[in-house]
Amino acid sequence: MIPETIGKRPFAERVSPNLLDYERARAEFSWDKAAQTLSGLPGGRGINIAHEAVDRHAQSPLATHRALRWIGKDGTRRDFTYSELRDLTNRFANVLQGLAVGAGARVFVLAGRIPELYVTVLGTLKNHSVSCPLFSAFGPEPIHTRLSIGEGEVLITTESLYGKKVAQLRDRLPQLKHVLLIGDRGARTAIPGTLDFRQLLDAASPVFEIAPTAAEDYALLHFTSGTTGKPKGAIHVHGAVIAHHVTGQLALDLHPEDIFWCTADPGWITGTSYGIISPLTNGVTSIVDEGDFDAERWYSVLREERVSVWYTAPTAVRMMMKGGAEAARRYEFPDLRFIASVGEPLNPQAVLWGVEAFGLPIHDNWWQTETGGIMIANYPAMDIKPGSMGRPLPGVEAAIVQKTKAGGVDVWTEPGMEGELALRAGWPSMFRGYLHDDERYRKCFADGWYLTGDLAKRDSDGYFWFVGRADDVIKSSGHLIGPFEVESALMEHPAVAEAGVIGKPDPMQFETVKAFVSLKQGFEASEPLRRELLGFARKRLGAAVAPKEIDFLASLPRTRSGKIMRRLLKARELGLPEGDTSTLEGGG
Ligand code: WT7
Repeated sequence: MIPETIGKRPFAERVSPNLLDYERARAEFSWDKAAQTLSGLPGGRGINIAHEAVDRHAQSPLATHRALRWIGKDGTRRDFTYSELRDLTNRFANVLQGLAVGAGARVFVLAGRIPELYVTVLGTLKNHSVSCPLFSAFGPEPIHTRLSIGEGEVLITTESLYGKKVAQLRDRLPQLKHVLLIGDRGARTAIPGTLDFRQLLDAASPVFEIAPTAAEDYALLHFTSGTTGKPKGAIHVHGAVIAHHVTGQLALDLHPEDIFWCTADPGWITGTSYGIISPLTNGVTSIVDEGDFDAERWYSVLREERVSVWYTAPTAVRMMMKGGAEAARRYEFPDLRFIASVGEPLNPQAVLWGVEAFGLPIHDNWWQTETGGIMIANYPAMDIKPGSMGRPLPGVEAAIVQKTKAGGVDVWTEPGMEGELALRAGWPSMFRGYLHDDERYRKCFADGWYLTGDLAKRDSDGYFWFVGRADDVIKSSGHLIGPFEVESALMEHPAVAEAGVIGKPDPMQFETVKAFVSLKQGFEASEPLRRELLGFARKRLGAAVAPKEIDFLASLPRTRSGKIMRRLLKARELGLPEGDTSTLEGGG
């Protein structure tokens, strides 16, 4: 039996939560006041994320405090204090200067969770260039698409990833001026058309002065996906750091003495906003584990690193649940005091499993690439309703709305109504555009509300409940995948006539990518062809995006206007009645 609510802070309290009284915090909150808790660039020269995250601490008693503890795949530990991080990020900003990479230029990094990734993101921000971290499990196609849309001028990557994924793309990336390679293969040989990251960094000065930075200056580019078309590059500005900072305090309850572990990869926005920026602005020690998920590994990281605040994802929690709470209870976690999760719906069972395994419930929160930071959350000092995403952050107004024919929205004031989740536009970390796609950006707003594309409900206590997506994007292991990107890759195979891609419900990953294809004349469905297509897609898209299953169909259902009806494919896959889906896109 799952209780309707879990009382606030039922467990030993060692630290008083930052947000003690939700109503009061809401009433008293203002973004202007929040901005005052940061220092700004010296001399009133604006606000820069990297200054707030690193430099101001490096000039304070925190200078010698551990900012990052990096754990390598093989268990090696490397620590970076705030002042060491300042010097390294200064060096990288100087490397960019030396290459004449200027303000606004897009600097991409494609790497696993290695220290260089953190140094380049922050150094890029210091240089006033725009940082774009890419997920290292992307295949060549998603990498190419993003570098092209983002007009990446610089790419920092490892020798291995370069050889496997990037070298083959160079002719198709005319705007890419510099590729900086991080050696990860032992013996070094010069690779034509690339520069040596380490050599440049070592030769650069550790002194750098951040130029004046306006709150509205572009800082970060994070790609996300829609139902149709290419991935969308969501632009975030330096002023977003106010939200990164405050949400870390209110929703993750960060305190200066915390050891914080965000398990997300910076290739996805959680890994940047909360894996890099928020812990550093809050002056805590941030754990970075290069290794992939492994339940035993994670329990021992939590234990050995004495993690006090842990931010993770539902898929990981479900995988741990599979191994049983006893596996966790073999360890002790005396320092752990707050657990939060984001990315997909967190099952009520998972909230409670936290209590069984760690003695702490798991606090769900909600946000998106476009929101830049946490928008709805379960706070330590508030009752949890298992299955609910919680309540809007102080400073954030959320509502359930329905679009009107006139292009505006109706706001549902009465609780219990299902509709689209909307946020009143104007919080600091709101995206400022989709790069080169103003029309798609404009379509996200109506009557002063940002429309999230999620369907949700609000109950009479003001808690929000996730219902589903309003579109066809796929969520797998917390990663958003655009069906169109997968369909396009499959269509490049000579045998494929049409492709339709859906998210198939999965007990672990929430959804997995499933493709339906019809074949061109002269090709016949067979097991070897299915395997060939799976391999073909995986090679192009990478493991993070490629379909796990492919079915052959004689033809795909389309609307009268020719669009593939993914919803009908999904209804058939799930054995749901087709009738209620046929109206969605105008009938077959
Ligand atoms: C989409 C955003 C969260 C930042 C990283 C992912 C889904 C997110 C929850 C939650 C149910 C959730 C939504 C949202 N989502 N958090 N707590 N419960 N669904 O950002 O890749 O842009 O994905 O993830 O559908 O719109 P993203």
